[in-house]
Amino acid sequence: MNTKIGICSDHAGWEYKAGLIKYLEGKGYEVVNFGTDGPESMDYPDVAHPMADAIEKGELDCGIALCGTGNGMAITLNHHRGIRAGLAWGTAIAALVKQHNNANVLVMPARFISYRMAVSCVRTWLQTPFEGGRHQRRIDKIPV
Ligand code: RB5
Repeated sequence: MNTKIGICSDHAGWEYKAGLIKYLEGKGYEVVNFGTDGPESMDYPDVAHPMADAIEKGELDCGIALCGTGNGMAITLNHHRGIRAGLAWGTAIAALVKQHNNANVLVMPARFISYRMAVSCVRTWLQTPFEGGRHQRRIDKIPV
């Protein structure tokens, strides 16, 4: 079965999101777009929470989120028990956020990285496996 990926952004990330949807669909992924789809100012929790809910319900395998800094999205998404949202701005950290943290949402700061870098981060994160072992033990200790 195809990997089903949710994607969301605020107004700071919508153009990168539009490009990433085309990129991912071109690679054969099924993509569910939670918005926003234009430059009008909006509030990132309005798209982050619905995407997180869908991942927690098992309707999606994972997600991608973009805002200006990435922090609003990461902070919002990590309020959900079933979400491990990790911020990446380069390929090394995009790999590590999967290898060590098993992030099920990749968050990127659209105002601080190029579109090409966003594509590279997404490709790296999707292709990198979780290492498990001691990292699973640490993840198991996260919930409060
Ligand atoms: C929007 O101006 C900006 O605050 C938002 O994209 C994000 O960086 C918030 O964390």
